[in-house]
Amino acid sequence: MLAMLLGELSRDLLTRPLTRNEVFAVLLRLTVFGAATYFSIKWVSDALDPSRKQRIQLKKKAERLMKQIGVEGVSLTEHEMHIAAHLVVPRDIKVTWKDVAGLDEVVRELQDTVILPFQKRHLFQHSKLCQPPRGVLLYGPPGCGKTLLAKATAQESGCRFINLQASTLTDKWYGESQKLTAAVFSLASKIQPCIIFIDEIDAFLRNRSEADHEATAMMKAEFMSLWDGLQTGPNCQVMVLGATNRPQDVDPAILRRMATSFQIGLPSQSQRYDILKLILARENMSNAVSLKELAEKTRGYSGSDLRELCRDAALYRVRDYVRKHQMKQIARMLNDGDSEEESDPGEDRLRPLTQLDLLLALEKMKESKGASAGLPPLD
Ligand SMILES: Nc1ncnc2c1ncn2[C@@H]1O[C@H](COP(=O)(O)OP(=O)(O)O)[C@@H](O)[C@H]1O
Ligand SMILES: [Mg+2]
Repeated sequence: MLAMLLGELSRDLLTRPLTRNEVFAVLLRLTVFGAATYFSIKWVSDALDPSRKQRIQLKKKAERLMKQIGVEGVSLTEHEMHIAAHLVVPRDIKVTWKDVAGLDEVVRELQDTVILPFQKRHLFQHSKLCQPPRGVLLYGPPGCGKTLLAKATAQESGCRFINLQASTLTDKWYGESQKLTAAVFSLASKIQPCIIFIDEIDAFLRNRSEADHEATAMMKAEFMSLWDGLQTGPNCQVMVLGATNRPQDVDPAILRRMATSFQIGLPSQSQRYDILKLILARENMSNAVSLKELAEKTRGYSGSDLRELCRDAALYRVRDYVRKHQMKQIARMLNDGDSEEESDPGEDRLRPLTQLDLLLALEKMKESKGASAGLPPLD
């Protein structure tokens, strides 16, 4: 078609000068032809490689994130770009140490063993014994603040933070997972100081077994060898931070590499008190609320249970508010609107949260937790 168009054009040009309209017509045809060619090539390449679009999006995201974390002028391979799309911008994390209640000791230890070595690198440089740990594990029952602690660490450490999920490394093409795994460590080294965070590490690096797919087994082996490789570089500021509810399912070889571990157990009574106090800090509460009583009655509850309990209790107020307004409307309709009621200044506000709301929510939660939970552990 292009040949036809050009042929016609050159024939005309040789025989006579073109009019203005003809020039426009030729230009228009050339533009339409160009656009049609561009879109058909794009369509064909999309059809041949369906992940192309996703790759381009990932690349754009990675470039934006790298800029946001202040890394510029570092060239990345395609696999590193893929991993860089999972970088966390500390500014976007809203969690700080102040949002973690009742875990002061763990927080202090995390500050000393994880954050300090990154921030005061010069203190650790000359001693082989004082090297920062290459792996740190947070383990314990669900809902007790492991992910919360990791987020706060990301926010407070000032390090680059890669939030690594198993799905990021799995690829349908043979050998790609291994390349992506290698990219995790090479990217981390390029942007160090860097923490590689793996939540639910048991799902990712679980006990190796005969049933493992060959690609998975290779990915795990690659991960471990690269991790060991880090240990040989004295100035390498890369750390793997893992969290799990099921440490028994994590590959022992991985556990060995995470010599520094913190158990984040179910909160004790005083920890529950601290957590409740933090959760309810901004709520409008009646003076009669006793968090001490609530902390006593919530043995075996995790931090996340306590948050749910408070949320449920807070909703009773909303229900009351809605009901009160409905009743008022009915009363107005019955009075035919002739008696103008005096409007209450507090009418459009939720009432304060009461101890009864909290205890009702607790009863409801106990029922839903059911007998299956068994006896809660001793504080
Ligand atoms: N110690 C705690 N202090 C404050 N909130 C907590 C605490 N533990 C748990 N929570 C609440 O429970 C939620 C779930 O905690 P999370 O860290 O995700 O638990 P997990 O241990 O399963 O990773 C948090 O977002 C937070 O609201
Ligand atoms: Mg978690």
